Amino acid sequence: MISVNPENLSERENYKFLTGSIIPRPIALITTQSQSGIVNAAPFSFFNIVSSNPPMLSVSVQRKKGVHKDTARNALESGEFVVHITDEDIVDDVNQTAAELPPGESELFLTKFTAIASEKVAVPGLQEAKVRFECKLEHAIPLAGSKDNPGCDLLIGRIVCYHIDEGIYHEGRIDQFGLKPVARLAGQTYTKLGELFDLKRP
Ligand SMILES: Cc1cc2nc3c(=O)[nH]c(=O)nc-3n(C[C@H](O)[C@H](O)[C@H](O)COP(=O)(O)O)c2cc1C
Repeated sequence: MISVNPENLSERENYKFLTGSIIPRPIALITTQSQSGIVNAAPFSFFNIVSSNPPMLSVSVQRKKGVHKDTARNALESGEFVVHITDEDIVDDVNQTAAELPPGESELFLTKFTAIASEKVAVPGLQEAKVRFECKLEHAIPLAGSKDNPGCDLLIGRIVCYHIDEGIYHEGRIDQFGLKPVARLAGQTYTKLGELFDLKRP
């Protein structure tokens, strides 16, 4: 085994070890809204479930040289965001939303996504995603870097409304094959659902 002290690695080297090992990662496509009403969209793979009671999820948004990305800034200002699950049918457009545009420009114009009004939050969702979660920001925790200069913001969202495509909804469950989720590996590599198997719990 090769043993490495993370403190001896650069930020980039740590990133490579993490994103090459913690795979596959689900991809949240997140919409937020700026104070001037611009709808922002961007993908995030540092994303997971935190709790099912109440339903909460986490997204870690890295800062760029100490500056918030639009997603974090909008979520912190408005206290709301919408999370969409990336699937095979939308992954190309999800990728387009990773473009680094100025805060006053919406990534949605680079895509075929259709904004749709949400029920419990002011931020619109995107109609083409088969699953989307309207979220209220429950906690925002600045992490890493130094105290005065955090490297990222861990956003914890409480889901206040689920939207699920009827075609993949069966008696309270999601059809995982119908969802066709796409996950991120390292760099520009992605994966679809692979070979599945069941294991009985001991
Ligand atoms: C598939 C994918 C996953 C990504 N995951 C993350 C992530 O977890 N955290 C992060 O800070 N940036 C992540 N990025 C980069 C952001 O999407 C990118 O910085 C984007 O421009 C941020 O947009 P915003 O400034 O509009 O929020 C990811 C990019 C891609 C393509």
